[in-house]
Amino acid sequence: MAPGKHRILVTGACGQIGTELVRALRQRAGRDSVVATDVVEPGPALKTAGPFAVLDVTRRADVAAAVDRHEIDIVYHMAAILSAKGEQHPGLAWEVNINGTFNVLEAAREKGLTRVFCPSSIAVFGPETPREDTPQETVLRPKTMYGLTKVAGELLGDYYVRRHGLDVRGCRYPGIISHETLPGGGTTDYAVAIFFDAVRNGRYTCFLAPETRLPMMYMPDCLKATLDLMAADLGRLKHHSDFNLAAMSFSAEELAADIKKHIPGFIVDYKPDFRQAIADSWPKTIDDSAAREEWGWKPDFDLAAMTADMLGAVKRKMSAGGLP
Ligand code: SER
Repeated sequence: MAPGKHRILVTGACGQIGTELVRALRQRAGRDSVVATDVVEPGPALKTAGPFAVLDVTRRADVAAAVDRHEIDIVYHMAAILSAKGEQHPGLAWEVNINGTFNVLEAAREKGLTRVFCPSSIAVFGPETPREDTPQETVLRPKTMYGLTKVAGELLGDYYVRRHGLDVRGCRYPGIISHETLPGGGTTDYAVAIFFDAVRNGRYTCFLAPETRLPMMYMPDCLKATLDLMAADLGRLKHHSDFNLAAMSFSAEELAADIKKHIPGFIVDYKPDFRQAIADSWPKTIDDSAAREEWGWKPDFDLAAMTADMLGAVKRKMSAGGLP
């Protein structure tokens, strides 16, 4: 790699996090230094914003070829099938999350990449894990296909660090709340949909029960965590692919109450579906002291700040006629 040249490839670039991560990376590294890829063609905004290539991470030769063609040095591997969709399509979740991750790590090893980001999730935990202040080192016996693929991804990432000296990093994202690109197929998606329905209709039917408490994070903190972890001094990292990460935890009814402070007539009813059992197997709160100690992690947004910012953004989008 020529000095100073950083060609970054992002998989899953049309997803909820990928879309905003590509923009943040381009702001830092320059438009043409970041190649956005996804299995689907992007919308016009992403397509004209910089280099884009269609890439299916389940095709190993294509992953390796993309790394060569674009002279890639760093990969952010954001492509994944999330928890709810993974229960509906377990075979697809295995293909994308296990084989896709293996393909990315193999390409990174073969081509001698500088660094790879492979995110994990609170879905690695399960009913046998302590649910309050879930420790960094704890029982990982998830009951979803998504969760077990993410455990494998963490172990695989750490294996490549140990066995091949590849610099693989990752954190266990909580539910991510954002307004640019909607999440797809997750159990925490309600915490995004509720804002859009609150602004659009003044009411929302929640697929989780009111008392369901889950760890969550606003997108600016998610981007900050991702970029800070990737910029951290390798010598300070004792963990690599599995950092616990926390910002806030709330129940569905606490989120509804916070939105009601801004939209007093807002009505929520609750019709829990199959996603309730998934949520019930996940932690309520997370101990992220390893991330704080090893790379200085600290979130900026709590529930009140996130709610105010989300509602402002969704209202602005609605008045501009641009609701997703
Ligand atoms: N947001 C994810 C999901 O709900 C958790 O990582 O599946």
